[in-house]
Amino acid sequence: MKRVVRKAIMPVAGLGTRFLPATKAMPKEMLPVVDKPIIQYAVEEAFDAGIEELILVTGRGKYLLEDHFDHAFELESTLVERGKESALDLVRSIIPTAGRISYTRQQKPLGLGHAIWCARNLVGNEPFAILLPDDLVQSKSPCLAQMMTAYEKTGGNLVAVMDVPREHTNRYGILETGSVDGALSEVLGLVEKPNPEDAPSTLSIIGRYILQPEIFSILDKGEKGAGGEVQLTDAMAHLIGKQPFHGYRFEGTRYDCGDKLGFLKATVALALARDDLGQDFADYLKTLKL
Ligand code: G1P
Repeated sequence: MKRVVRKAIMPVAGLGTRFLPATKAMPKEMLPVVDKPIIQYAVEEAFDAGIEELILVTGRGKYLLEDHFDHAFELESTLVERGKESALDLVRSIIPTAGRISYTRQQKPLGLGHAIWCARNLVGNEPFAILLPDDLVQSKSPCLAQMMTAYEKTGGNLVAVMDVPREHTNRYGILETGSVDGALSEVLGLVEKPNPEDAPSTLSIIGRYILQPEIFSILDKGEKGAGGEVQLTDAMAHLIGKQPFHGYRFEGTRYDCGDKLGFLKATVALALARDDLGQDFADYLKTLKL
């Protein structure tokens, strides 16, 4: 019997150096895409997919993330006094039931695999999801919800994948694939950030995973891989052949909000999709002499 995925980990300890000076005092996950911080898109996606408990792996200086999902008494009482009900509803709707989000710290930046390992005791012995908030997916059905449906069929380990240009394979975990069944590809191998000439395919992992807890005993060893970091991709590679492992081609568009160009693309795409802004924004864009 496949066990239900109830928990999700979100690593949010990164320094966001690609967005300095904006991220000097503010976590990169608080950068807004239109009017919502990047982190909130990922949190909503997790809850929409049925995740009951969320674990944020934070680091020093990330307290704003905790504040964002907590009451802001001064703001709320001012909104009450001024009768701004819709703004009040909005800020209150962000706050999950107490205990639904937990926080733990990655004390040293030793890599994504290490960040996930930091949450091992909060996850325990059950399957779990991972969402990397930098990867924002615009889709009809939330990306993780699509994966949950696929997982019903596959069990085991599942990573969201998409094709990337070959010259970009050194930015991603890349799959060596076996048999293909619709959106699902059997995973025969995984390599973290291979050079284009060494990449076994152009099918790359984006930041959504469903994994079995056995990954933690592999991460326990703390082995370093690409870039001298403890890589999640390397740990996952050890599970191939022992447990089912699939890549899932999700429906939707992924934006890398950890990158300036990706962030700008996400901002434009999500603004254009908004009922309250889309038309006016499109009209404005058309006036630009490009
Ligand atoms: C991480 C993973 C990589 C994955 C990518 C998706 O890399 O290590 O395997 O393809 O996320 O965004 P990072 O972007 O942290 O360098």
